[in-house]
Amino acid sequence: MYRAARPLLFALDAERAHGLAMAWLQRVSTSAALRTRLERANAVRDARLEQELWGLKFPGPVGLAAGLDKDARAPLAWQALGFGFAELGTATPEPQAGNAKPRLWRMPAEQALCNKMGFNNDGAGAIAERVARAKHDARIPLGANIGKNKDTPLDRAVDDYEACYGALAPHADFLVVNVSSPNTPGLRALQKREALGELLGALQDAAVAHGLQHRPLLVKLDPDLDDAALAETVGACLEQRVQGLVCTNTSVGLPKPAGAEGGVSGAPLRARSTQVLRKVADLTDGKLPLVGVGGVFTAEDAYAKVRAGASLVEVYTGFIYGGPGTARRIHEGLLPLLERDGFRHVRDAVGADRR
Ligand SMILES: Cc1cc2nc3c(=O)[nH]c(=O)nc-3n(C[C@H](O)[C@H](O)[C@H](O)COP(=O)(O)O)c2cc1C
Repeated sequence: MYRAARPLLFALDAERAHGLAMAWLQRVSTSAALRTRLERANAVRDARLEQELWGLKFPGPVGLAAGLDKDARAPLAWQALGFGFAELGTATPEPQAGNAKPRLWRMPAEQALCNKMGFNNDGAGAIAERVARAKHDARIPLGANIGKNKDTPLDRAVDDYEACYGALAPHADFLVVNVSSPNTPGLRALQKREALGELLGALQDAAVAHGLQHRPLLVKLDPDLDDAALAETVGACLEQRVQGLVCTNTSVGLPKPAGAEGGVSGAPLRARSTQVLRKVADLTDGKLPLVGVGGVFTAEDAYAKVRAGASLVEVYTGFIYGGPGTARRIHEGLLPLLERDGFRHVRDAVGADRR
């Protein structure tokens, strides 16, 4: 069906198409009957793909990347489409409109997108309510990605992350600290050792204050860090005992169409994000669960991230080009790849290329 709908959606402005798709997904999310029908068609239930990480059960390793369902409008639709988890947000403390349009560009020849959305979202409170409401019917982990409002000065950024944490951590299954979006001025500076140490320390204190020390806290990294900066950032994450790292956000270092601004995602990002993931797996000595994201379209792409060190992978751009069957196709395709290489379980393939 998506094969027929895609040319129509692609004929529309990218944001308008996204709005229409989200309206459909919201309908799916709120209809138990639709969800059941879709889940039957899309969920791949296979013990070889199931993992328990941070005490959470992931029915499959392929999840939704942050930024597609920024407002948690369709949290249960992702389960119905066969995703093994969903990262919702980015949420900021206050609702904000994001950057001026146009701010999202398709690059079909490259199988890519370029965006400078700038954290348009309904605010952490509204998003937390939707996550809380969905929890009852959720059988996949629902995570929340948190950030800062554009108007908050960088030296007050910690307050914003704490506010998001306070709103979302009681409801989300895991939290992802976004210090890597290129579309909020200065945000990436929070990856520097001192700033990141301070930010993560404050969030660990907030976890204690809320009695949520068990809530996994992950950090999402950018793909444009050089080796020294990456080592410094990962060092700060290890010092603050974060539970996982997400590699990576979009890149500002890749070619983009004339007039487009922001970060590039999709196929052109694939190699770079996997390279960063592999370095992070080395820097953490394979001791932290890692989430690989960037240019995953096929089972082969996902498997390469797993072999480089990812326990989980996420998809954004691959879903835009591949449609609702994307998670099912990748999960199904992983099984013969595991079999081919003699792995009895996906966890056995994690980091295989490092050994
Ligand atoms: C339009 C768009 C909006 C995004 N918004 C966010 C966001 O709000 N927070 C975030 O952490 N990442 C965001 N991302 C980055 C994705 O989560 C992902 O890291 C990146 O796109 C690479 O994965 P992909 O190649 O599968 O798209 C966004 C990406 C796109 C294309």
